[in-house]
Amino acid sequence: MRPSRRGEVAPFYVMEVMKAASEREKASGDVLHLEVGQPSTSAPAAVLQAAAEGLTSNRLGYTDATGIPDLRRRIAEHYGNRYGISVDPGRVVVTMGASGGLVLAFLAAFDAGQRVAVTEPGYPCYRNTLEAFGVEPVPIPVGPTTRFVPTAELLAQAGSLDGLMIASPANPTGTALRPDELADVAGFCKENGIRLIADEIYHGIEYGDRVPTALSVDPDAVVLQSFSKYYSMTGWRLGWMVVPEDLVRPIERLAQNLFISAPTLSQLAALAAFDATDELDANVVRYAANREILIDGLGEVGLNHFASPDGAFYFYIDVSHYTDDSQELCRVWLDGLGVACTPGIDFDPAQGHRYVRLSYSESTEDIAEATRRIAGWIRSHES
Ligand SMILES: Cc1ncc(COP(=O)(O)O)c(C=O)c1O
Repeated sequence: MRPSRRGEVAPFYVMEVMKAASEREKASGDVLHLEVGQPSTSAPAAVLQAAAEGLTSNRLGYTDATGIPDLRRRIAEHYGNRYGISVDPGRVVVTMGASGGLVLAFLAAFDAGQRVAVTEPGYPCYRNTLEAFGVEPVPIPVGPTTRFVPTAELLAQAGSLDGLMIASPANPTGTALRPDELADVAGFCKENGIRLIADEIYHGIEYGDRVPTALSVDPDAVVLQSFSKYYSMTGWRLGWMVVPEDLVRPIERLAQNLFISAPTLSQLAALAAFDATDELDANVVRYAANREILIDGLGEVGLNHFASPDGAFYFYIDVSHYTDDSQELCRVWLDGLGVACTPGIDFDPAQGHRYVRLSYSESTEDIAEATRRIAGWIRSHES
């Protein structure tokens, strides 16, 4: 007997960094968390209120595998309100976070042995989950020349593909595909019979123009979304997908078998999330202020080798001027400065040793203090 090869999947290193940071926190109490990829706020008040009501008024049994009909309708409406796009609620599937959506999308769309393009750097769980399912992740190296977003030219160099996974805005760079770039990539996929899966988990956290949904250029794209980021509900484990007609039944069957349904209390609570925009937009204002503090503070000491993030709450910084081993640099910053950051190897096995990801979702005081400490370290290493 031996464990399956699927279990040999690479770890999600961010989680390991978080573990090291919390160990140091327990030992010395002083850690500024720039490694975490989650809002530092709780769910909005209206969501908490709806959850409290759900606890007493609802039996909290299973729901339909695709979610509570009212929530699916509310999500479909959201596409009309936000993007001016009409979505049939029958194409909305409520999932256990975007992570649950990824599992369903990959299983429904691809057979073992097929080839799915993922950007490098990119969110590591795409690559790791595809690998666990026996689907081949095909790395598309993206860098500063394209603001870390994929292009049709880069995809054309990747050989034959069955799928493309994009995230816009992306983790770890925060950069987003502009409307023409998204149209080009979607057009390439259409021409070449490539299934487009778009992770839009960071929509709502934007610092300039509104980021377009893939549905605006390809109504048959598979779109993943979540209540984790803009809606500030990571631990509620709730997300959704908008799926094309041909995947509705396959995904429903898979969801029935794999999960039965997404958490009922979270679904009831999430009904209130779409009306909490004032509170949620205030979080985005804070992220924007944090982003400026980092741009200014790190820029002053010349740590400015990154693409300006269009959304999300990350900087992906080229630190090759200081080290060829960003994992070691993160250890030095954690041990010496009490600042936890994530080394790039999680996001890019090839080039990540030259990069560090900083998250600025924490309080403005913490981000300002972390900026001061990192800038101080840079100064002392320049002199
Ligand atoms: C790009 C991206 N997609 C998906 C996820 C998973 O999120 P969820 O909490 O919705 O499962 C994350 C989490 O950090 C992410 O950054």
